[in-house]
Amino acid sequence: MNLRSQQWFDNPDNPGMTAIYVGHYLNYGLTLEELQSGKPIIGIAQTGSDLSPCNRHHLELAKRVRSGIGSAGGICFEFPVHPIQETGKRPTAALDRNLAYLGLVESLFGYPLDGVVLTIGCDKTTPALLMAAATVNIPAIALSVGPMLNGWHKGKRAGTGSSIWEARKLHAAGEIDFAEFMKMSTASTPSVGFCNTMGTATTMNSLAEALGMQLPGAAAIPAPYRERGQMSYMTGQRIVEMVHEDLKPSDIMTRAAFENAIAVNSALGGSTNAPIHLNAVAAHLEVTLTNDDWQSLGHDIPLLCNVQPAGAYLGEDFYRAGGVPGVVNELMTAGTLPHPDAMTVNGRTISQNCADTRVTDAEVIRPFAAPLKPAAGFVNLSGNVFDSAIMKTSVISEAFRARYLSNPDDPEACELRAIVFDGPEDYHDRIDDPALEIDERCILVIRGCGPVGYPGGAEVVNMQPPAALIQQGINELPTMGDGRQSGTSGSPSILNASPEAAVGGNLGILRTGDLVRVDLRKARVDMLIGDAVIAERRAALEAAGGFVFPPHQTPWQEIQRAMVDQFDRGMVLKPAVEYQQIAQK
Ligand code: FES
Ligand code: MG
Repeated sequence: MNLRSQQWFDNPDNPGMTAIYVGHYLNYGLTLEELQSGKPIIGIAQTGSDLSPCNRHHLELAKRVRSGIGSAGGICFEFPVHPIQETGKRPTAALDRNLAYLGLVESLFGYPLDGVVLTIGCDKTTPALLMAAATVNIPAIALSVGPMLNGWHKGKRAGTGSSIWEARKLHAAGEIDFAEFMKMSTASTPSVGFCNTMGTATTMNSLAEALGMQLPGAAAIPAPYRERGQMSYMTGQRIVEMVHEDLKPSDIMTRAAFENAIAVNSALGGSTNAPIHLNAVAAHLEVTLTNDDWQSLGHDIPLLCNVQPAGAYLGEDFYRAGGVPGVVNELMTAGTLPHPDAMTVNGRTISQNCADTRVTDAEVIRPFAAPLKPAAGFVNLSGNVFDSAIMKTSVISEAFRARYLSNPDDPEACELRAIVFDGPEDYHDRIDDPALEIDERCILVIRGCGPVGYPGGAEVVNMQPPAALIQQGINELPTMGDGRQSGTSGSPSILNASPEAAVGGNLGILRTGDLVRVDLRKARVDMLIGDAVIAERRAALEAAGGFVFPPHQTPWQEIQRAMVDQFDRGMVLKPAVEYQQIAQK
């Protein structure tokens, strides 16, 4: 077989360039024979670094990957990926997903690589790496770094993210001081690995497996466990075989694979960031995937995983109960996995991989017949405020349902007074202002937080009510916005609204005091101000120069703002989608 790397290392038609390409690599102690013998050159796209605590353990795991590659007859070239740390990057890590994507596309396209191991983990690392592998389309296999161990605080499980939201409420209500707040919050991050809750990281790592891009069982193994190192070794071995088989991302991430991933996402209680990221990966493979698909394929699938924030348990429990293969097996047995015959990286179908994995703890992964909640997917809302926004209806609490959705004549609809904030700073400045007269018939609205307004999109829609309401026992209000929210938040928000205010969406003309009608049954959100007023306000906004958003702080913010698409279309760089399967061209 003619390996791609041999175009660099063994090209008698161009001796000059071959010598230049080969020469410097010999400095590692590699021999000319090794480079010209047709051994696959395998990249490890390394996302771990001191800037990236969630993925840093990949620096250690890469040693096992390397051994696996060597044992199968490959040569390993490890190289860095632009860091994306959810908890470290300002203004938001989401800004860097497309930057890491671009950088990795150049590395995969421009260097002598026959295959690549994608070291995934923290939220945006998974989509960034899958998107790049999709664009270049050389054999690729993903490897999760694994979740952190379970956190514990005062004898109770402390989940990453979830603990902070909980501690924030207690702190706002004056029940705990700052020192206790810090103790409670940080108890939830006890080891290397990514967030141990069913936030965006566990969701995306699990979906990478459901898509067929990881070896079976690879997503859920906690980072410090020995099985994680063993999985790394097997991943290294397998990518060498994949190069010999020419098994590429486009052979695995088909429309069928995405449909499977949508079903699995519902069963997991997956993050509201998942549609953004999977729609993006699909776009880079010329697979059409929309938020309508998420509702039609995913909404009615029940919630099986009893993992925080929707449930009670954490990553170690999820792994012991059967992980992703356990969930897939439950769906398959119930006949609700759309495509059991979808191909995966080990050359077998997803049903072959998961047929024998029985769930070993039915409290953590519930049987399909006795789920945690009935319909766990997303509703794709539209109306005169936006074309598309996602809501995870499974996180709506009984109290919330009773307060807002219990009108016997109209059980799924409510009319609410809008309180509008322009970005997170404005929200923090004014949320406790008594002049706003916020009560339980209000919907908190935040705008200017989409891919353009707040470059990358801020995770801010899960706004908490004013302290005065929390003290009265009202812990949640309906919220809506053109930003995102953390996958670890269980807040019943209407989010990812597209188009955002900054590109002309009608959120930009909503005013505090306007009535907004939310109708979940019809999947509609409408402001009740009439078409004439809408037209008038639009004209006034345009005459004033359009929706104002903060200036760019970095060159990349400016570049991305000029070419980024909206959340419902994956927040992809529009010109990048034009480049498909580029290694083959
Ligand atoms: Fe990295 Fe949660 S912050 S996975
Ligand atoms: Mg997040």
